[in-house]
Amino acid sequence: MVEKATLDGRTAIVTGASSGIGQETAHALADAGADVALAARRRERLETLADEVESETDAEALVVPTNVRNEDEVEELVETTVAEFGGLDLLVNNAGTAAGSEVASMATEEYRTMMEVNVDGMFFATRAALPHLRESGGTLIFVGSFAGKYPRPFNPVYAASKWWTRGFAQSVSAQVGDDDVGVTVVNPSEVRTEFGSEYGESFEERFDEGEVTEPEEIAEAIRYAAGQSPSMAAEIDLYRRDKFTMF
Ligand SMILES: NC(=O)c1ccc[n+]([C@@H]2O[C@H](COP(=O)([O-])OP(=O)(O)OC[C@H]3O[C@@H](n4cnc5c(N)ncnc54)[C@H](OP(=O)(O)O)[C@@H]3O)[C@@H](O)[C@H]2O)c1
Repeated sequence: MVEKATLDGRTAIVTGASSGIGQETAHALADAGADVALAARRRERLETLADEVESETDAEALVVPTNVRNEDEVEELVETTVAEFGGLDLLVNNAGTAAGSEVASMATEEYRTMMEVNVDGMFFATRAALPHLRESGGTLIFVGSFAGKYPRPFNPVYAASKWWTRGFAQSVSAQVGDDDVGVTVVNPSEVRTEFGSEYGESFEERFDEGEVTEPEEIAEAIRYAAGQSPSMAAEIDLYRRDKFTMF
């Protein structure tokens, strides 16, 4: 029987840690032994999470308020983490957002928000983290989406940002595999988080418990991917069971 891999002594950055999948990922990684740097814009949320992590586990938690649209802040996030923790083994590129849907009436600001958070933010963080991940033989994890694998009518710009995420991740994997860096994309379908609140109703309000995926399930997949070595989980799809009956 294969035991759950420990992440003892590892160090991780989780973007979008102030809520949903990122928050549960921070708990899961710390439970497995990793020190976690928590990044998002809402400082208070991160401070509460850091207190929880440090009281429930032996892991250290570092709060680094970061807007991933800003490349200087993202560079600072990585440098602060490396300085505090002594290196970097894992980057979880999770921060993401959606706005609008209809292309014909989409405001330029909605388009830019999605592109800057979902695309630029993941590029900035990956670029800053890679030298450290090459040094540690670490792992790079991206949160993609069902929307990044199958065409669907809702919000084509959001969907395209997630196709980019998957394409970028897999191509980066080809570039860094020889350096012993593992790359994983985790693709959820609907998850009960604050996601969707831009539309007036979040997914945790829209769906009842048991109806779709919980953020803890995605966090568990991320923890699993983080523990793979020398193999890597290239892509993990976690969908609600009735997802393919919906077409
Ligand atoms: N929930 C779903 O159904 C679902 C399905 C497929 C994929 N996903 C993906 O899963 C990831 C996490 O989403 P979630 O479901 O956990 O949603 P969520 O609860 O709304 O969390 C989104 C996180 O992203 C952070 N964020 C947004 N803009 C940011 C910015 N400019 N700089 C830094 N952080 C920013 C938010 O923190 P602050 O507001 O504090 O900055 C928050 O922590 C996203 O990439 C999303 O696209 C979600």
